[in-house]
Amino acid sequence: MQRIVVINVKGGCGKTTISTNLASYYACKGKKTALYDYDPQASSMRWVSVRRRGEKSPEIFNVAAFREPRRVTKSWQLKLPPDTERIIVDTPPSLKGLDLIDQVKGANVILIPVLPSSIDMFATADFVRDLLLGAKTRSNNIRIAIIANRIKKNTNSLAALERFLNTLNIPVIAHLRDAQSYIQATEKGLGVHELEFQKNDEDSVHWASIYNWLENIE
Ligand SMILES: Nc1ncnc2c1ncn2[C@@H]1O[C@H](COP(=O)(O)OP(=O)(O)OP(=O)(O)O)[C@@H](O)[C@H]1O
Ligand SMILES: [Mg+2]
Repeated sequence: MQRIVVINVKGGCGKTTISTNLASYYACKGKKTALYDYDPQASSMRWVSVRRRGEKSPEIFNVAAFREPRRVTKSWQLKLPPDTERIIVDTPPSLKGLDLIDQVKGANVILIPVLPSSIDMFATADFVRDLLLGAKTRSNNIRIAIIANRIKKNTNSLAALERFLNTLNIPVIAHLRDAQSYIQATEKGLGVHELEFQKNDEDSVHWASIYNWLENIE
């Protein structure tokens, strides 16, 4: 079972969008998938309940993890279907210190969404430093990757983001475009790759590259 935590202290960088799209991507690939929502805003929970109204979408098991008392994880982990293959964890913004360490405990993979804006880049630089120091990712064998989100091609902000990402020394596994289809998919409880009319080849390539990176790590 692989546990993938989508996290960044910065609000609004795409944690929920990436968590829900990844969960639907795995579910569509036939993997038994669970989506944990640690954010009391419950956006991922809402997305799953909209999804269940649709008839054809492959099932995703969901857990309102934010309701569980801190550090008491065993009881709800037992509720997971026993053959669960992938757990995607959506996290709240602004985590620091012990809360941050708690959140990544037990992760196999940490995915960090970053937006092309200076505010987001500064916040992410601090976050990455806290994460590398606090969570002992190397000794705990946790793999980390960045997903650049809401990218607009040929812009100065993209060039600045690329320069920033080069300094982090963490693999950048995808550049997701800034597109209405992400907003529409979220409203329907779907991933962008499940949208019938707005399906875009570029999105498919990016999601396939995220999936391939995740499936090929040791
Ligand atoms: N690639 C994208 N293209 C267009 N809109 C996007 C994209 N990614 C995210 N958004 C939009 O940006 C907003 C913030 O995204 P999202 O809720 O996923 O961020 P978040 O990190 O989970 O936020 P929070 O910190 O509040 O939990 C949402 O309205 C979402 O629909
Ligand atoms: Mg969110």
